Amino acid sequence: MSQTAQRKLQFSEPFLKVECFEDVENLWIDSKTIVINASDAEVVIGDKPLRPWNSSIFLAVVILTASRIICVTLDTDFFSGNIFPHARSIIETWTPVRDIIPLPHLKNTKLWRSKKDRIDNVEFNLWYAAASTSCGIHNEHDFRELHTQVFGIGRMQKFHKNDHDSLYQEVFMSPGYTHDPFYDEDGKYPWHQYLADTDCIWLATEFHGQRLPTL
Ligand SMILES: [Fe+2]
Repeated sequence: MSQTAQRKLQFSEPFLKVECFEDVENLWIDSKTIVINASDAEVVIGDKPLRPWNSSIFLAVVILTASRIICVTLDTDFFSGNIFPHARSIIETWTPVRDIIPLPHLKNTKLWRSKKDRIDNVEFNLWYAAASTSCGIHNEHDFRELHTQVFGIGRMQKFHKNDHDSLYQEVFMSPGYTHDPFYDEDGKYPWHQYLADTDCIWLATEFHGQRLPTL
């Protein structure tokens, strides 16, 4: 009998489910699911190992064993051009970024954040940005962040200065993808921002306190 433990994170929506599975044994992934390896060891999915804090979309596979994974499912496809069909529900219930970070240049930014949930020292939350939204250049966090794209196409961008014209790297974010860390060993970040090309949803993973395991 499987001993897999399952918990839905509190910010899940009827149309977007984020679940944590622990002590996984023989977990069947039926339909398209973003699987994040949230353990400190490789997890074999299909015939390939998935490294810690990497992710991809899987279906029709069994995960034989894993100490912890995060699974994200949507009631629509992970990509549909411009429009996220549940955008209105998000705008009405999530927190606008201007209420989280009261900076004048974010006042009209079409960016919303869900509530948070926590597993050990790791906090998770969802973000939604409307198409063509620059989400704001910044270079400070009191945590180490990674982002996993859930819906749409966006980019993580790095800048030499707090200035859009000083762009020096772009990492495209497509559904199921988690970018490599932008922070260094000391937790320092370059100037960076998220740019939403289409309507975008991503899962933010925020590590507090201790250093990350091997990445
Ligand atoms: Fe950031």
